Amino acid sequence: MSSRQFPSALNRRGFLALGAGAAAALALGACAKNDGGGAVQPDSEAVRKAEAARRAANAQVREVALRAEPATVDLGGVQVRTWAYGGQLPGREIRIRKGEVLRAELTNGLPAPTTVHWHGIALRNDMDGVPGVTQPEIAPGSVFRYEFTAPDAGTYFFHPHVGVQLDRGLYAPLIVEDPADGRDYDLEAVVVLDDWLDGVDGRDPDQQLRRLQDEGMAGMNMGGDGMGGMDHGGMNGSGMSMPADPNNPLGADAGDVTYPYYLVNGRIETDPVTVAARPGQRIRLRIVNAASDTTFRVAVGGHTMRITHGDGFPVRPLTASSLLIGMGERYDVVVELGDGVFPFVASAEGKNGQGLALLRTGGGAAPAADVRPAELAVAPVTGDRLVAADAVRFPQRSPDRTLDVALGSDMTKYIWTINGKAFPEQAPLDITEGQRVRLRFVNKSMMAHPMHLHGHTFQVVNAAGNGPRKDTSMVLPMQTVEADFQADNPGQWMMHCHNIYHAESGMMAVVSYVR
Ligand code: C2O
Ligand code: CU
Repeated sequence: MSSRQFPSALNRRGFLALGAGAAAALALGACAKNDGGGAVQPDSEAVRKAEAARRAANAQVREVALRAEPATVDLGGVQVRTWAYGGQLPGREIRIRKGEVLRAELTNGLPAPTTVHWHGIALRNDMDGVPGVTQPEIAPGSVFRYEFTAPDAGTYFFHPHVGVQLDRGLYAPLIVEDPADGRDYDLEAVVVLDDWLDGVDGRDPDQQLRRLQDEGMAGMNMGGDGMGGMDHGGMNGSGMSMPADPNNPLGADAGDVTYPYYLVNGRIETDPVTVAARPGQRIRLRIVNAASDTTFRVAVGGHTMRITHGDGFPVRPLTASSLLIGMGERYDVVVELGDGVFPFVASAEGKNGQGLALLRTGGGAAPAADVRPAELAVAPVTGDRLVAADAVRFPQRSPDRTLDVALGSDMTKYIWTINGKAFPEQAPLDITEGQRVRLRFVNKSMMAHPMHLHGHTFQVVNAAGNGPRKDTSMVLPMQTVEADFQADNPGQWMMHCHNIYHAESGMMAVVSYVR
């Protein structure tokens, strides 16, 4: 087995990220008490204090039992063998209220170690689910209890943080309700998007990753002519950054993996889920992109969408015909429904295929599985166009620290890098509590990277100082995105591309609070 293969790679990475002393302690199932390097550890007093400050004395505790296990699931006439939470796809939604404590006991019924990461939640560091960094791996047959306060309302999801397990069926929505929810809509539906290969024609995600790494860049899925290496790593002729084409924001290379299916709420487009409503009702769609290598362009036939939230946080409402959603991103939209049956289409951007759901308020025949609503042809709104709602804007402040995050690749191998190095080779990016930190993502590759920061919600920097609050932001090919966050959640936090094949091939780093 190569050192990059699951599961030993994650052990090695995490241990290296924390240093040898921490590695030894984690291997014994405890976190390091003293590290010498000044890193604020997951089990430190600072982490406990931050959690105590979040938690109200009378906070309600909500208990759920989760079981990750092998299962056969029905994608809509296609049976596949996979791994899933509770044997269903997506896993059963968890729904709590803002400020409540989630106590989730995970039983690992898989033949491999796993963890749960609560994507987007600003939670206590020791519950973040990163093996070797915030906790030991959960071995097959064992149990781990997660318990944390969910401080912010919004649309989130959870998934393992081990290898490429996300590209199996291990994901489920986590909805944190706000007392103000429901004021501007009549009903809601959670819509989870995914790209699917597991259990089809003998494929699985681990084998897919090995194949990418064996073939290297030249063998990649890009309509290939052997130019892959250059395209991925290269600058364009002038070395200048060209603005992205609004109707083709991902450029020529939208993904590395060819998928046989695209799913909406676990169903293929020939057997879609139907959401029933009445004409004139306003439906809030909480859209989660749980895919591993696919950006989706979404639209509702015959309707516009009012975008109300990005990654759980409110934005100034913006009306759109179509919307681009990167891996790990979530958007909430409100749609005022006409009379009839309407397609919600999630088109795999730059690939062939789509996911489908139906919104039915009246009679009529369902649209065909390959329906292409005219709205899809309109250039999609991307997250950077949004403006934060006033209530969640950060006060203006110039950054105390700027972290440069150059996104690149090795031109001959399937290796993706941050600042020229594949995880865990690069040094952690140090910050201290209380700082205003600027992340400066510079994409030096010809692929888009949805960059995700754990434990925080940053604010995308725009000219007016009112960019959206996000935890995952698309950095388009050859573009630069800056994002500021407040260092108010001590610990060791992953920052990585949410293309799981990129992340597992090096595009990860640790943002490390130091004393
Ligand atoms: Cu959803 Cu570290 O990821
Ligand atoms: Cu990437």
